[in-house]
Amino acid sequence: MKNKVTKAIFPVAGLGTRFLPATKSIPKEIMTLVDRPLIQYAIDEAREAGIREFIFVTAKGKGALEDYFDAAPELEKTLRKKKKTELLQALKATDMDSGAIAYIRQREPLGLGHAVWCARRLIGDEPFAVILPDDVIAAEKSCLSQMVEQYAETRGNIVAAMEVAPHEVSSYGILDPKEDMGKLVSVRDMAEKPDLADAPSNLAVIGRYILEPNVLNRLHDLKRGSGDEIQLTDAIAAEARENGDVYGYRFDGQRYDCGSKIGYLKATIAFGLARDDLRDELSDFLNRTVSTRQAAE
Ligand code: UTP
Repeated sequence: MKNKVTKAIFPVAGLGTRFLPATKSIPKEIMTLVDRPLIQYAIDEAREAGIREFIFVTAKGKGALEDYFDAAPELEKTLRKKKKTELLQALKATDMDSGAIAYIRQREPLGLGHAVWCARRLIGDEPFAVILPDDVIAAEKSCLSQMVEQYAETRGNIVAAMEVAPHEVSSYGILDPKEDMGKLVSVRDMAEKPDLADAPSNLAVIGRYILEPNVLNRLHDLKRGSGDEIQLTDAIAAEARENGDVYGYRFDGQRYDCGSKIGYLKATIAFGLARDDLRDELSDFLNRTVSTRQAAE
């Protein structure tokens, strides 16, 4: 088995129901934080981590995603004519080498585990990353880069993990830790969206994974689990129980759940405030809006 992680799966076939009606015609992954779509942040993170092959698991209605990474000769010609060098430079981030992206269709939204399984033939017998673009992580060194470094040391299956508040555990895959080594936690088992009373910890899995190909075999044999979907968590949990080679990794960085309205709004504000060209006016506006609201209450 190859040891270097050079392939990443981007499961983007979900229905995005929390953003209806917007997601009736716009894929969630095309929604923007300031001026870049969520998928661009995910691709940049993957590139930084050394990923060379990008596998999108898409579905009906996700055409805008494929167009986003396509060449745009007419737009570029117009920008060149108007000498818009900065905008041309911004477009460069969307350039993908021919053949670097593959699109696979998930015919029915049967769950994240099923979406990952759909890419099995393109993965073959090597470790791979899974990135959920609606989890956006602001970090000095990208979350996936941190995990790739950890993988070079430990091997096995590594999932990004963070502590969540008690009322949130029922929204996540939750780790049952065997040994807590600080940044790294070895995993005994995992539970998908458990009730708080049954949750083995408050250490939640978020949308970055480095997995070994055996997880794909596990997915092949899985039955539908929580929410009547084929759960990635269930396949990784089986690896933890039977092979003991699963780790949670407490990454450095601030994660935004852009799959939820509140997380998306928080990310929009945080990324706006991080921009030199927007910071002053945006923070003025926020301060004024909050004081006016407080005065009115
Ligand atoms: P979510 O649980 O966020 O589901 O999926 P969703 O459909 O995107 O959004 P809501 O809950 O209806 O608002 C997590 C990730 O798994 C992908 C999604 O595209 C998202 O990146 N996914 C989920 C699939 O690719 N296929 C599926 O069948 C389910």
